Amino acid sequence: MKLKIQSIDIDFHQIVENSLNAIWILGTEGEILYFNKACMKLLKLTSPEDILSKKLYTFLPPDIHAPCKERLIKVIETQAILESIEAKMIRSDGEVIDVEVRTVPYHLKGKVYAQVIMQDITQRKIAEKLLNDREKLASLGQTAASIVHEVKNPLTSVKGFLQLLKESQSHSYLDTMESELEKALETLQNLLLVSKPNLHDEPFVSIALGKELESLLFLFQEKLCNMKVELNVRDAERTVVGKRSLLLKAFFNLIKNAIEAIPDKGMIEIEHYYENGWVHIKVRDTGVGIAEDKVKLLGTPFFTTKSDGTGLGVTQVFTTINEHGGGVSVQSVVGEGTIFHIRLPAE
Ligand SMILES: Nc1ncnc2c1ncn2[C@@H]1O[C@H](COP(=O)(O)OP(=O)(O)OP(=O)(O)O)[C@@H](O)[C@H]1O
Ligand SMILES: [Mg+2]
Repeated sequence: MKLKIQSIDIDFHQIVENSLNAIWILGTEGEILYFNKACMKLLKLTSPEDILSKKLYTFLPPDIHAPCKERLIKVIETQAILESIEAKMIRSDGEVIDVEVRTVPYHLKGKVYAQVIMQDITQRKIAEKLLNDREKLASLGQTAASIVHEVKNPLTSVKGFLQLLKESQSHSYLDTMESELEKALETLQNLLLVSKPNLHDEPFVSIALGKELESLLFLFQEKLCNMKVELNVRDAERTVVGKRSLLLKAFFNLIKNAIEAIPDKGMIEIEHYYENGWVHIKVRDTGVGIAEDKVKLLGTPFFTTKSDGTGLGVTQVFTTINEHGGGVSVQSVVGEGTIFHIRLPAE
């Protein structure tokens, strides 16, 4: 449709076609009748053929197919403007992104379709999560530090008295008591270290993580013999600024967990690349995976499903990455495997 305003021809088709929002016209079955350029960009598709004759469901995670169908039917039947919702889409490269979706009716030749308008909100969600995680971890760190302080002092004095007692008399239980106390004190110290990594007075230095990953993997060579390991380092020259031993420990913890998640044979893939100002590291394993309700617990001190685990590894990862201004996201499917995706600001 063309409208003349003060002798300028307004071409509405061009406005829609070049809109920054992804705009779809869909039928009740999710069939795609129209899509603009932003849809291709959103899904990182290069050719319109990749979309034509497909249904929108091709690009949606399976768990939102049913609610999406409901919305399409609702907008077409009631012809009402639906409240906006947040959803996820799968890009052509497999990356899952967050989108905000608004759905309004679209009338054409006496028929009603759904006009779906999408905006990529992945970056906003990442920023929100970072802020949330940081607040959560800060309060976790405070709580842990004060508990450690309260418990460590009396335990240290018990240890002192125990040593005095050992000097004056001997009993086989005294050694056991002392070593058990040592263990308790060590756990407390570890909790303090992982919850408040900024207490480390290690200097910030330039680190090329891409180059460090190989030597980290080397530490696990014995355990890796019946696994396929792929190290895929791109942009190896990129550096981040950070506390070296803390960051290496975080990646050590991630690789250790990936190995422990694979009961028999499997694959571990570590990817390093640079994108949009961030250094990305993905640690992917084909292990047992993590149940959805347990993913929320990752990062909580002492959460473990292993008989000999301390449950401090992932806490160390979260707190360290957060302290370095980065972020962690986890994708996991039970029985298929897990991906830990770390982002750190590039230097
Ligand atoms: N890659 C993974 N695959 C499956 N489960 C994982 C993975 N990474 C972490 N987990 C789950 O998260 C829990 C917590 O991990 P975390 O590293 O904090 O402690 P842990 O591995 O149990 O003990 P520790 O690291 O002290 O040996 C694990 O027990 C496991 O259930
Ligand atoms: Mg661990």
